[in-house]
Amino acid sequence: MNKRAGVIGSGIVGETLANGLLDSGYEVCRGSRDPEQLAVWLAEAGEGASVGTQQDAACFGDLVVLAVRGAVAEDVVSEYADELSGSVVIDATNPIGGARPQDGSEPKDGVLSFFTGPNESLMERLQAAAPDARFVKAFNSVGAAFMVNPQFDEAPTMFICGDDTDAKSVVGDLLDDWGWDVADMGTATAARAIEPLCILWCIPGLRDNEWTHAFRLLRL
Ligand SMILES: NC(=O)c1ccc[n+]([C@@H]2O[C@H](COP(=O)([O-])OP(=O)(O)OC[C@H]3O[C@@H](n4cnc5c(N)ncnc54)[C@H](OP(=O)(O)O)[C@@H]3O)[C@@H](O)[C@H]2O)c1
Repeated sequence: MNKRAGVIGSGIVGETLANGLLDSGYEVCRGSRDPEQLAVWLAEAGEGASVGTQQDAACFGDLVVLAVRGAVAEDVVSEYADELSGSVVIDATNPIGGARPQDGSEPKDGVLSFFTGPNESLMERLQAAAPDARFVKAFNSVGAAFMVNPQFDEAPTMFICGDDTDAKSVVGDLLDDWGWDVADMGTATAARAIEPLCILWCIPGLRDNEWTHAFRLLRL
């Protein structure tokens, strides 16, 4: 695998993971519909960084990070299914409902609404939209501030899943380098359980403005 990664995401998750990948020795192309908005990041990111369109990022390397708004993720993946073919795609997205109160998607008592139901997941939809891409769910159940080299007393757990064992091993190695305890929950179907961890993670933040936590799986 070459050390080139595309990052589709101009938000905080795209920035955090792009910077982490650069620090880990990857060349990184960050993609946006408007690459101009990434000019400040590009100027600060230094050697190995570039910007382009979402399509440029989708075909830049063997590793792609998908960090777009959940509501548009399926459209983005469908549009670039050919570019993503064969690549390991880290899916950091969450199917959080639209921001409009009339959608009924405002948090209730700190509990976010998803536009997916309990017996489906966004990542399964993405995998179906780009069947030749190798999706791995990761980074969706923690805030961006803790995604790379999280500093807790013990290593927090990152729950991952996906249909391709080799792809999970690539992502698992990266997580290991960044100090995560990796818990592989199996195939893409497990995203039905991993995506809602985002809802749980956000409750202390939305209720009490506490955002400095992560999950840890205890094992005997
Ligand atoms: N924020 C966190 O701490 C956190 C933690 C875990 C998981 N997540 C998940 O990670 C994902 C990214 O979160 P974020 O906070 O970094 O950013 P965000 O504000 O949720 O999304 C921004 C990204 O979505 C893209 N986008 C928005 N509308 C689009 C459209 N119509 N067509 C194509 N692309 C569109 C933007 O593309 P342009 O560059 O073209 O504008 C941009 O790259 C989300 O799914 C979120 O749920 C977030």
